[in-house]
Amino acid sequence: MNMITEATKPTIQFTPERLERAKQSIADYPEGKQKSALLPLLHILQEQEGWTSPEGMDYVASLLDIEPIEVYEVASFYTMYHLNPVGKHVIEYCRTGPCCLMGGEEVYAHLKQRLGIDTGQTTVDGQFTIKEVECLAACGMGPVFQIREQYYMHLTNDRVDEIIDELSK
Ligand code: FES
Repeated sequence: MNMITEATKPTIQFTPERLERAKQSIADYPEGKQKSALLPLLHILQEQEGWTSPEGMDYVASLLDIEPIEVYEVASFYTMYHLNPVGKHVIEYCRTGPCCLMGGEEVYAHLKQRLGIDTGQTTVDGQFTIKEVECLAACGMGPVFQIREQYYMHLTNDRVDEIIDELSK
């Protein structure tokens, strides 16, 4: 059992509205299966903090009454969770075969050159982070990257420049 004492009290807490959503997610599952709400709670954490910080993951563990390591294992498996602070715009590009065959490697190289960063890095102004992910399920429309819920498809170097210009405004 994961006991919360004053000494181990999480330094992060959800806002009242997010805590209510977290409780609703937990209530979606039968008694004793509260761990099943882990993914939605990690989404809520990332929405609030911008990333899944260790302190935040400890807090999620306390809400689910599970060990922190169980949260770390899941958060580190999925690329959609950011284990480090990220920029305002997180560009997640598809590195899987079909996108690469459709010109992805050249386009992604241009993206990195344009922003002056490599995969896993954030621009000094904190505006952009680049992440590499597996197939985004838009294989026929590659090369593809995703920024939050928005997909950008049929990417070319010119289109990448347009997108960066637009987001930089
Ligand atoms: Fe890129 Fe599937 S291979 S979206």
